Amino acid sequence: MKRQARESDGSGDMIKGIKGVKDLLPEETPQWRLIEETARRWALVYGFHEIRVPIFEVTALFARSIGASTDIVEKEMYTFQDRDGTSLTLRPEGTAGTVRAYIEHNRAADPLPQKYFYSGPMFRHERPQAGRLRQFHQFGVESFGTADPRADVEVIALLWRILSDLKLPALTLEINNLGDAADRDVYRPRLVAYLKQQEDKLCGNCRRRIDANPLRVLDCKVPECRAATDDAPRLADGLSDKARAHFGSVLAGLDALKIPYSLNHRLVRGLDYYGLTTFEVTSTSLGAQNAVGAGGRYDGLVETLGGPVTPAVGFAVGLERMAMMLPETVSVNESVTVYVAGFGDRGSAAGFSVLEELRVAGICAVTDFRPGSLKSHLRQADRLRSRFALIVGDDEAVKGLAILRNMDTKVQHEVSLTALSSQVSSLLRIS
Ligand code: HAM
Repeated sequence: MKRQARESDGSGDMIKGIKGVKDLLPEETPQWRLIEETARRWALVYGFHEIRVPIFEVTALFARSIGASTDIVEKEMYTFQDRDGTSLTLRPEGTAGTVRAYIEHNRAADPLPQKYFYSGPMFRHERPQAGRLRQFHQFGVESFGTADPRADVEVIALLWRILSDLKLPALTLEINNLGDAADRDVYRPRLVAYLKQQEDKLCGNCRRRIDANPLRVLDCKVPECRAATDDAPRLADGLSDKARAHFGSVLAGLDALKIPYSLNHRLVRGLDYYGLTTFEVTSTSLGAQNAVGAGGRYDGLVETLGGPVTPAVGFAVGLERMAMMLPETVSVNESVTVYVAGFGDRGSAAGFSVLEELRVAGICAVTDFRPGSLKSHLRQADRLRSRFALIVGDDEAVKGLAILRNMDTKVQHEVSLTALSSQVSSLLRIS
């Protein structure tokens, strides 16, 4: 539920967050932890290791890898000049930086495949709407060093495992074969010739794409563009035997693992580095921005960025979109909290020491430092949903005692301040 901020009291204008850049409030973070921990756990099970790459890189890295004529590079990057004039960009995705790190640290010299996963914020200047942000978060994996179609199946299986474990609803895996670079070189002029005949039926964006990035026209969502490209020549009809065989093995692998998919010959995706397998998982339980995650094979990218010939495949999922699909209340094992109700001069002094003692013993302890009566402290303990209150007034402090109260059952136990944490620990276990 959204709460309204209070009006500024006139002492200064309220500075608001940036459009399309969200705060994650404490009520939401348990959901996020569940998503991140589930993804990380499965990635480790599948033999991926965590990599952390920087949030900004030189602009040329993204332009060269994602492609100069893609929407991301043309319109969506947060690019700025460093003090020495170098052009830098906040990462719009995780693959380019991971490939750069792979090359720079000569990981090709280590046993292959090298399999990495990452998680973190990405930045794209898109028009914000439900499920589309300017700062969003991805969990992604990249597998370097094998051209075997089973590596494609492995990353798709991992993606499917994560989404299924989280029980995300109404998922569809769509998959397409983009062929190899030579296949696309033969296909592109045939498609351009067809698109030129249909030019007046296409949206402005697609008209611009005819020469710069014609394959992207196929995946435009505008109904008129879809109708105009229904009879377009298909890449699938002119694929090399090798590309065909690779894709056939990927589909056979998915069948063997019982992962359901549907073929979508229009699936091109907005990043230019893909070839052969490309895939996307969508959900009808999301709105217009229905892609939960996507990926594909990018065998040429390591070489394009100055590394050795290295086949690679990966995917990324959007954490905001996954969070939108989870129930609002995710049950998490929050640790039991003890509210320390110290009141009166001696009682609050003793309560302050007790608070630290409980925390050092690993017991989650909270309090309210504002002076108050026992009644107001107990009300506060209820508000904070503490399961226990540890009451130390002046009388208890003088006697070297405290009272542990179960806030639900109201049952109380006396505990001695000298062996406090061990007594409280055992009472928490049995209460
Ligand atoms: P992508 O399809 O651009 O692929 O993004 C992957 C996922 O990130 C999307 O399916 C979506 O869930 C999420 N996403 C993208 N843009 C936004 C946004 N503006 N707001 C919220 N969520 C968003 C890639 O980024 C590739 N690097 C994936 C990959 C890894 N391919 C190979 N390896």
